[in-house]
Amino acid sequence: MAKTLVLIFHPDFNQSRANKALANAIADLPGVETFDVQGAYPDNNIDTDREVERLLAADRIVFQFPIQWYAAPPIFQAWQNAVLTRMFYINYENEGRLLEGKPLLLVVTAGNTASAYRPAGANMMPLEEILNPLRVTANRCGLQWNKPFFVYEAMKARDEQLQSAGVRYRNWLDETDALRSHEQPLLISMAVS
Ligand SMILES: Cc1cc2nc3c(=O)[nH]c(=O)nc-3n(C[C@H](O)[C@H](O)[C@H](O)COP(=O)(O)O)c2cc1C
Repeated sequence: MAKTLVLIFHPDFNQSRANKALANAIADLPGVETFDVQGAYPDNNIDTDREVERLLAADRIVFQFPIQWYAAPPIFQAWQNAVLTRMFYINYENEGRLLEGKPLLLVVTAGNTASAYRPAGANMMPLEEILNPLRVTANRCGLQWNKPFFVYEAMKARDEQLQSAGVRYRNWLDETDALRSHEQPLLISMAVS
């Protein structure tokens, strides 16, 4: 069975509603491991041996995070600096090379509306375009890029809306053994009344 590693990069997962609802919805899927990176390393002092091992044990990798100031939260940068630098710049032959070819999926929650992420909107461009640095990183590390899964209006969403986003996330992960099948971005907009 394929092993899916979901790395959650949230500054305070205990306070999260959206990312926690998403993580809860997939936690019992066979082969899925969810891991709260900031919770494990509150001082950003990342155990690289452990995290390299965790990555190499996975068949596919999910980065899940809330967007903050048009980027992933700071723990993501700390994780990249520690783990990916070691794997791809220091120990490529024994580590980075072994990661190549694995699929990477992105799951991102945003406070703003989908329409704000348009040329005429406040955020000027699609969220997927704002996340292009991650796509470049995936390419640099030989990871297979997939269309991201976005949840907009995540802050104001009611519990039942987050639960339904969780169901779609679960189905999406479940159906995604054929990982290259995601040709279109998956968007969820919360209609908040
Ligand atoms: C410091 C900070 C910066 C944020 N920046 C953005 C942003 O750039 N774009 C956006 O759509 N939402 C932004 N948000 C809203 C978060 O993305 C939103 O609160 C989060 O996705 C909700 O998920 P959670 O319940 O798991 O924390 C920001 C929130 C915080 C606290």
